[in-house]
Amino acid sequence: MNGFSERSLPTPPGKMGLPVVGETLEFLRSPGAFVDARRAKYGPVFFSRILGKPTVYLSGAEANHWVYAGEDKYLKNEWSPAIRELLGDDCLALISGDEHRGRRKLLAPHFRRVGMDASVPSILSVARKHLRRWDTDARLGPMAMVPRIRALAFEIAATYLVGEVGDLGVPLGEFSGDFKAFTAGMFTALAVELPGTKFARAMDARRRMATILDDLVMRRDAGSRRGADVLSTLLEVRDEAGEMLPRDTIVDELQLFLFAGHDTTVTAMSNVIYHLAMHPQVALKARAEQDQLQAGSFTLESVRGMPYLSAVIKESMRMIPPIGAAFRVMTREGEFGGFRIPAGWRIAVCPRLVHSDPQYYPAPERFDPERWLVPAERPPFAYIPFGGGPRMCIGQHFAELEMHIVLAMILREFTWTLGPDQDLSFTEIPTPLPRGGLVLDLRRC
Ligand code: HEM
Repeated sequence: MNGFSERSLPTPPGKMGLPVVGETLEFLRSPGAFVDARRAKYGPVFFSRILGKPTVYLSGAEANHWVYAGEDKYLKNEWSPAIRELLGDDCLALISGDEHRGRRKLLAPHFRRVGMDASVPSILSVARKHLRRWDTDARLGPMAMVPRIRALAFEIAATYLVGEVGDLGVPLGEFSGDFKAFTAGMFTALAVELPGTKFARAMDARRRMATILDDLVMRRDAGSRRGADVLSTLLEVRDEAGEMLPRDTIVDELQLFLFAGHDTTVTAMSNVIYHLAMHPQVALKARAEQDQLQAGSFTLESVRGMPYLSAVIKESMRMIPPIGAAFRVMTREGEFGGFRIPAGWRIAVCPRLVHSDPQYYPAPERFDPERWLVPAERPPFAYIPFGGGPRMCIGQHFAELEMHIVLAMILREFTWTLGPDQDLSFTEIPTPLPRGGLVLDLRRC
């Protein structure tokens, strides 16, 4: 499959669509429905012209493997111009080749599972503070959970990144307001700073955040305080020449980690809570597991002892992967599944395609955490909420730890049912969340 092509091979089935725009408008209306319809019509490999380029969708564990194995051989990472401008060229997600491999090697030790225990106390104390607030607010009636989970996760993420959020020197609400404007600009088509546009507001927010972070980096570099936070690691690592990372690279990395780690974690946790509201029997079982563990405190080891909660989280991300698609671009002509894929074409990996494939998940439309508790023959890359290969999510272990602790605490303290009259349809861009904000009637257990 990895060989390079005979010119006679056909390109994958699909349509170029309208002049200039191709099929972009239909794609933007609902990326999920767009790919589902084309997979049903053309099979697991198809193409369309969206967002300015022919784009090949590949579905299946073997296809995902082909993409992840192709990094820097026949394809490379692709980001939109808006995201490139906003993230800056020198952050982990945008660099490639030896530079990417070298940076991952420097940063990977920080993100290993074994070091994660050091982050538990701060996750616990931030979560306790927010859950106390939820308890008070819930007495006033049903409330939208997504903004509350967002605020909680933002404080956890900021603490993980810089240690003390007070060190930012501005109120966290102000910093998170800028972060919101910054991410809102990521998904705009035109990366041009026209006054009044989302993109211009995002660039302004990026500059303000960069100033705050740069000042913090300088202070921390000059001082001696080091901790379990990511900034400490970014200040400590040295490349092969013994050089530390440039200060503006450290700032770019902090902004990237916040961008890559925040909305994804909010989405994953919100959708677990949504699934538990939709499936009371599953919620009962998840709570029963926590009741048995109640006395124990949280450690890396103790969260491993929550197999049912782990299965619920896995199943929730199978059904609603927080990231809709990851994009690559072919750097040379290649071949997969009997099709020729020309150089310059884009490749899209959509976790939802492989996660809804009945050959890996019988009755894929059923929310069934039990499927993760029985032995099943699934090939590698049939489950990819965190991606795979050299660009696999570097924050996976932190995200999993955070989700287990926060969700376990919520299960121990509250029961919940869906509030009345709400819009339970899902947004898709930037991430899949209930449009109505997931209004719940939260009760103390
Ligand atoms: C449930 C939460 C999360 C999900 C579902 C998720 C998902 C992903 C996926 C699918 C990728 C691969 C994208 C690709 O193939 O191009 C990725 C990459 C990445 N993630 Fe996460 N992520 C999560 C949390 C986090 C957290 C908490 C952090 C940071 C602390 C983080 C930092 C990153 C970074 C920096 C990359 C780029 C890695 C590289 O290019 O080498 N993520 N994530």
